[in-house]
Amino acid sequence: MKLPNMQEAKKRTNKEVEYITITDHKEPLFQNQKFFLKTYGCQMNVHDSEQIKNILLNLGLTETDKLEEAYVIILNTCAIRENAHDKVFGYLGRIKHLKKEHPEKIVAIGGCMSQEESIANEILTKHPYINIVFGTHNIHELKNLLKESLNKSQIIEVPSIEGCVYENIKYERDSKVKAWVNIMYGCDKFCTYCIVPYTRGKERSRKMADIIKEVKELEKQGYKEITLLGQNVNAYGHDLSPQINFATLLKEVAKTNIKRIRFVTSHPWNFTDEMIDIIAKYDNIMPYIHLPLQSGSNRILKLMGRRYTKEEYINLYNKMKEKIPNVAITTDIIVGFPGETEEDFNETLDVVNKCQYDGAYTFIYSKRQGTPASKMKDNVTLEEKEQRLYKLNELVNKYSKEANEKYLGKVVPVLIEGISEKDSDKLFGYTDTMKLVNVKTNKNKIGQIINVKITDAKSFSLDGTLE
Ligand code: SAH
Ligand code: SF4
Ligand code: F3S
Repeated sequence: MKLPNMQEAKKRTNKEVEYITITDHKEPLFQNQKFFLKTYGCQMNVHDSEQIKNILLNLGLTETDKLEEAYVIILNTCAIRENAHDKVFGYLGRIKHLKKEHPEKIVAIGGCMSQEESIANEILTKHPYINIVFGTHNIHELKNLLKESLNKSQIIEVPSIEGCVYENIKYERDSKVKAWVNIMYGCDKFCTYCIVPYTRGKERSRKMADIIKEVKELEKQGYKEITLLGQNVNAYGHDLSPQINFATLLKEVAKTNIKRIRFVTSHPWNFTDEMIDIIAKYDNIMPYIHLPLQSGSNRILKLMGRRYTKEEYINLYNKMKEKIPNVAITTDIIVGFPGETEEDFNETLDVVNKCQYDGAYTFIYSKRQGTPASKMKDNVTLEEKEQRLYKLNELVNKYSKEANEKYLGKVVPVLIEGISEKDSDKLFGYTDTMKLVNVKTNKNKIGQIINVKITDAKSFSLDGTLE
């Protein structure tokens, strides 16, 4: 048994990152049985689930989207906010009920929530029906854990380590059109509110040659778009020797000629001019940047440990708008950080008014055990926080609608990804600027970049016709 430990998880040493090549073979341990996998959280988790899926398929299981049908049930969890917990524990209620009738079923919990001390302890003491708890550092061991669980009632195996870089990971990718490509893991920024540096280990980069190789393979398989993934992509390469930077990686990826390149997430701190120039220069790097603001108040930004001021952020924003033609910029904003005053909040609204974002994800601050902010005095009432969120959302939505309306009547390239969920007569895809477009056209257009004339603009999507 290995229980997570937050003290261990926050340690950062000079130890060199270990690069480990993993191999996995098919081994039909389960026959005629199904798995159910539910994923919470960010793109990182979505991509990890593609690895988990590959492992399960190799064990002879097939996927089902019906919980009741599954023999193996896996929840890949998130810990970013309290409500992420509530959702998982709510769901566990259903699973517990199911396990009462079918004790032979195997339930496994992985992801960022597993990395939290309090959660692992809670599972140990209160949820005996959960068979396996694994972490973010040992996904590749899931096969062995599943095997072991056939003779054990509960396995908790959650290492809190700085982390290694695993190569040769196989994925069962959700899409045949676009793919995630990890470029780095972990985070060393330790923003005071955030749990990610504790759940994902230290910043560690994949070698550029391995990344390029993966991109080239994806291109060969017919993928049109890749998204380079990291909690803070502009920190890429500082840990490699010789050091390289994200701008260099972007340039090399652009030279593979894959049709569309995106990246998430970049931190406003250390977003260099060189990066902006490269994004502007290469047509296959999409003009879309997610640039989390978090707060517009310098006092709060400092308490958050964000390493930039409101003025520096706006400067960077303006430079991007100036140098990258037609760029779309979205953001993340937290309201109600401990001690946030009405004045601080107004500073945030001021930045939103100045930047007029294409879109924003907005959150009420959520206390995460073990983080520095959890010890700060929080005297803002929930009611006030909710009012601020409401006010912020109104403003944010106004600007995203306006940004969408600018597309009316224009003809834009859209990479068609699949059939629209809401209307099976329509296909959906995204513009280079990451606007969701629904368009009535032939199904054989899936996987193609087509020109679409925009006929209607809503707050969160566009409608169009084939040009
Ligand atoms: N690495 C990314 C973000 C990862 S988390 C970055 O630095 O931008 C995604 C978003 O969740 C964050 O941008 C932040 O807005 C929000 N978030 C993180 N911790 C939070 C907390 N404790 N309470 C509320 N929102 C939080
Ligand atoms: Fe969290 Fe900050 Fe790291 Fe983003 S940069 S993952 S907000 S600590
Ligand atoms: Fe959640 Fe972990 Fe991502 S906490 S947001 S799944 S890195």
